[in-house]
Amino acid sequence: MRTTLARALGLEVSLLQSGMGGVAGAELACAVSNAGAAGCAGGYKLVGGALSAMLRRLTAGTDRPVGVNLIPEVVGPDELDRQVAQVLDETPGRVHLSFFGMPDDAVFARVAAAGRKTVVQIGTVEDGVHAAAHGAVVVAQGTEAGGHLLGTSHRDELVAALRERLPEACLVASGGIGSPEEAGRVLAAGADGVLLGTAFVVAHESRAHARFKSAVAGADATDTVITDVYEVGWPGRRHRVLATAVTADPDQPAKFIGRTVVEGKPYLVPRFSAAVPTEATSGRIEEMALYCGRSCGAIAHEVPAAEVVAAFARVLPGAGAVKSEEKEESYAGR
Ligand SMILES: Cc1cc2nc3c(=O)[nH]c(=O)nc-3n(C[C@H](O)[C@H](O)[C@H](O)COP(=O)(O)O)c2cc1C
Repeated sequence: MRTTLARALGLEVSLLQSGMGGVAGAELACAVSNAGAAGCAGGYKLVGGALSAMLRRLTAGTDRPVGVNLIPEVVGPDELDRQVAQVLDETPGRVHLSFFGMPDDAVFARVAAAGRKTVVQIGTVEDGVHAAAHGAVVVAQGTEAGGHLLGTSHRDELVAALRERLPEACLVASGGIGSPEEAGRVLAAGADGVLLGTAFVVAHESRAHARFKSAVAGADATDTVITDVYEVGWPGRRHRVLATAVTADPDQPAKFIGRTVVEGKPYLVPRFSAAVPTEATSGRIEEMALYCGRSCGAIAHEVPAAEVVAAFARVLPGAGAVKSEEKEESYAGR
């Protein structure tokens, strides 16, 4: 029998906040978890003392289920092993591991042996079937999504194809979901919960630069483009961003356009950097990687993360609900 996402992860609301590197620090993750959904902190390239500092803030800031997001293809297998070991050693059992793309089978085994839950975002049916075979919550990302794209299918096509192959799996829809009404539609189409990225970029607790937040709040879906220009630090994967002077003219010189600080360490930001502008970034913010989903059309204001969770909680099932055809029809009617 299918369970809701809330039941699978011990939440009150079947909602995942994406662990967006740079944007989703411990503060956003804790605010989302404290509001009853699953917050997630972006681990991205953090290791050693910087990762430990973030994990300490994460576990001190909430006593509810929460996640840490890691990206296998960005760090490679050896660094990923170190990151996974650190998360397992330094956090309690209520912290789950969230992966963007497929980790090696040995990583699934290690996380399961530690008694932790795994969430994996995928973009193809094949990867979804593989992740489900390892007992993971499967997040199906469509090309409507902001950020890097794992496949070439639209969200609803991918959810439908996966639901057919995986009638029992816990399946979460991701990409282009900006309103509770849209969330209701994806539940009716077979998902057990939703993942939101862009909707949390504009949250008070997000670390996105203020001009990045206002650009997202003012944008429509048609202001976003799929490109491969922001490749420094994460090459070889297309991404959806707000259209910028750089996406319009990718032949500009690859010089430095800003400065930033990550966990206390200063960095220069080259043009074409994959890094998002955060509250610690200065320089030509409007030319940087402003990852943004087609969901932006439904997002108009900066609001506290708890308000985003409360708005979606109206349509998303809690832990008590067991999904049935009857329930799906009532979502569709909203
Ligand atoms: C600013 C931004 C940064 C992102 N960074 C990550 C990341 O570090 N790890 C990850 O798993 N997904 C990341 N994503 C992708 C999301 O997980 C998800 O696929 C996407 O946000 C869903 O579409 P939506 O933005 O329309 O809600 C990012 C998305 C955005 C908008």
